[in-house]
Order: sequence, then C-alpha cells, then structure tokens
Amino acid sequence: MDRSEAHLFARDKCQKETTYHHLVSVEGVMRALARRFDEDQELWGLTGLFHDLDQDHTGDDGSKHAILAAGWLRDVAVDERVINGVLAHAYEEYRTDLMSRAVVHADAVAGLLVASALVRPDKATGMKVSSVKKKLKEKAFAPGVNRDEVLDVEDTIGLPLDEFLAVSIGGLQEVAPQIDL
Ligand SMILES: [Fe+2]
Repeated sequence: MDRSEAHLFARDKCQKETTYHHLVSVEGVMRALARRFDEDQELWGLTGLFHDLDQDHTGDDGSKHAILAAGWLRDVAVDERVINGVLAHAYEEYRTDLMSRAVVHADAVAGLLVASALVRPDKATGMKVSSVKKKLKEKAFAPGVNRDEVLDVEDTIGLPLDEFLAVSIGGLQEVAPQIDL
C-alpha cells in the first residue's frame, strides 16, 4: 500500500476529522524519527498513520482497540511489522523493536505538539523545543497527553528528550498543511 492509498484507507476508517488529523500527526512524527534512526520511513510512517485506525469504532471499549485495526490491516495485507507496531502502541508485549517502541512516544508527543500548535497564532510554524517543554510541565495543558510516555523516551529508544522534541516538531511541521496546522 503506497502513501496515498494508505491515507485514503485511514480516511475511510475514521469517522471524525480529529481522529484522522491525529493519525497524520503521528505519521509525520514517525517519518521524522525513522530518518533520525536511518530506518524505513514508509514503514514507520504507516505505523504512525494506522496506530489508532479503529479509534472511532472501538470508542470507550478499550478491549478491542488496536485488535480491530490489526484485523483490518491483515485483510489488506499490510506489512506484519506495521501491524505489530499498531498493536504495540496499545499492548506492551508487542514492543519488540525500535519502531514498535517509538510509536508509543510518537503518539504521546504528537498529542502534545498538536495541542501546543492549536494555541499558537502561527500554529506549527516556528514552534520551539523550549516552549513545548513548558507545555509538558503544565499538567493542566492537554491533560490527556501521557507525560511519562514523552519523558521516558531516552530510556526506551535512546534519544535525549530535547532531540526527540526537535525531531518530532520537524515531523509535525512536514504534515502540518494536511491537518490545518
Ligand atoms: Fe494515538
């Protein structure tokens, strides 16, 4: 599945525009992280794009989240490494390699970055690591963002926090025009 087919597939599965935007934001961060690690951008990007594919279908029933998406992805023969990464964002036992550990952090940081962009006049343009770090410390800001999943990034994928934020900001900026940021 190429990138434009993948976007159509994601659009089709998302009932809410905000869900689709979230998927694209995580895709952008994952592509930037893949480049940083000299890994496969397409594979990492698809993992980001598909990680919450079933969000609007599983809703509050967390027990099916990611499992439903994995089934859909298997039906269309998406690479098993991507499916493992999708499962990994929700279930620790699938966090078996760099990509499947990275998606957890990409998910969390993308939430923080999008929330930060939405309160800036220039949105994602010109966003700085220092201002994102301030938002990270403000517990009342974007309370749904799991701070630990941002802060423990160096322990799990070996990227210092500041560098992780800089790479992630760059990744968000690349997809920003597609998600009104
Ligand atoms: Fe997510």
